Amino acid sequence: MDIFEKEKKYFFNTYKRLPIEIYNAKDCYIYDTNGKKYLDLFSGIAVNSLGYGNEKIIAAVEKQLKLFTHLSNSYVQFPQVQLAEMILSLSGFNKIFFTNSGTESMESAMKLARKWGKSFNKNKIFGMTNGFSGRTFGALSIMDKEKYKNGYEPFLPETDVIEFNSILSLTNKINSKTCAVVLEFIQGEGGVRSVTSDFIETLFDLKKKYNFLIIADEIQTGIYRTGKFFAFEYYNIKPNIVCIAKAIGGGFPLGAILGDESVANIFTTGIHGTTFGGNAISCVAGISMLEEINERKIFSNVIETGNYFIEQLKQLQNKFPKIVKEVRGIGLIIGVELNCECEDIVNKFLENQILINCTNKNVLRIVPPLILSKNQVDDAIKIFEKVFIEII
Ligand SMILES: Cc1ncc(COP(=O)(O)O)c(C=O)c1O
Repeated sequence: MDIFEKEKKYFFNTYKRLPIEIYNAKDCYIYDTNGKKYLDLFSGIAVNSLGYGNEKIIAAVEKQLKLFTHLSNSYVQFPQVQLAEMILSLSGFNKIFFTNSGTESMESAMKLARKWGKSFNKNKIFGMTNGFSGRTFGALSIMDKEKYKNGYEPFLPETDVIEFNSILSLTNKINSKTCAVVLEFIQGEGGVRSVTSDFIETLFDLKKKYNFLIIADEIQTGIYRTGKFFAFEYYNIKPNIVCIAKAIGGGFPLGAILGDESVANIFTTGIHGTTFGGNAISCVAGISMLEEINERKIFSNVIETGNYFIEQLKQLQNKFPKIVKEVRGIGLIIGVELNCECEDIVNKFLENQILINCTNKNVLRIVPPLILSKNQVDDAIKIFEKVFIEII
């Protein structure tokens, strides 16, 4: 049996795997076992901001491996405290709780919100239509897509969704029982769709009127993916709670929630916890990743290369209007909405040594390492053109 047959035999069949066997990876490239080189426009779904094999991350991890790897959260741990200090000073939030993953961050945020709401007799939590918050029951309860939810009913009580970018839905649903509203400022899985400024303005007006928490899901968009530390910074507002994961562990499993002063004293000893959250190896990798991004000012590259990529893609849209419906995004989270489904098109990119992802059926999602260069964009654009010529 080859590795693909073994995978089919041994694993619950939850993933549609690409037909390549990866051997190693460096910078923005992945190499298969035959030595074939692929440009990675996917970065492990917006995780590997510095690409692969970053020397500083490797050195920090090697050093920490020899000191200690896992410790219980009964101990204060230097890597956790150092990373917490960096994240809080970069973001301006008051408190942090480390998790293992995005969905665990979302669960933690929802629990924190419910605890906060208790004393005000508020418990209703809203997500957004077309949103993605994770795979656990809390996360699924504030999502609407059947694809993720079907068969897992019943979900959490006092949860619902508001229509994304519909002010009418917002004003109809929010009231004095509202405890929290969860939203991605740019919906990633939902096809790289940004929230409108009007929607955010109304949401914050309603918050003033009814006093509820706003939870930003920055799991995909956070940590400079848009050029700013958080996507919500483009809207000049501040949520009460932020969920992060993906990039924050520098390629290792790590997530966190951040809270402002309104929720700073809600979690008390023993009422929430995790075994692996804030793992020392993940934290030192996260510290090195943040240091590298700030020292090398990689956020400027995100804006410059992102704008260049979007411009080039828009030129392709003009050339192939029958294929490309819309190009959208900020920094290095870019969606190319096609007039056809894109799952099979991903394989055409693969044949041409580009790794790209298809989301929401017809959106090619581009979330490359933040170190992507303009030359690499040029290489990618040539392949986009080649693939579009093939499918026209
Ligand atoms: C916006 C958003 N929220 C939550 C999650 C869930 O994160 P994880 O897969 O780490 O549980 C994801 C993952 O893609 C995401 O993009």
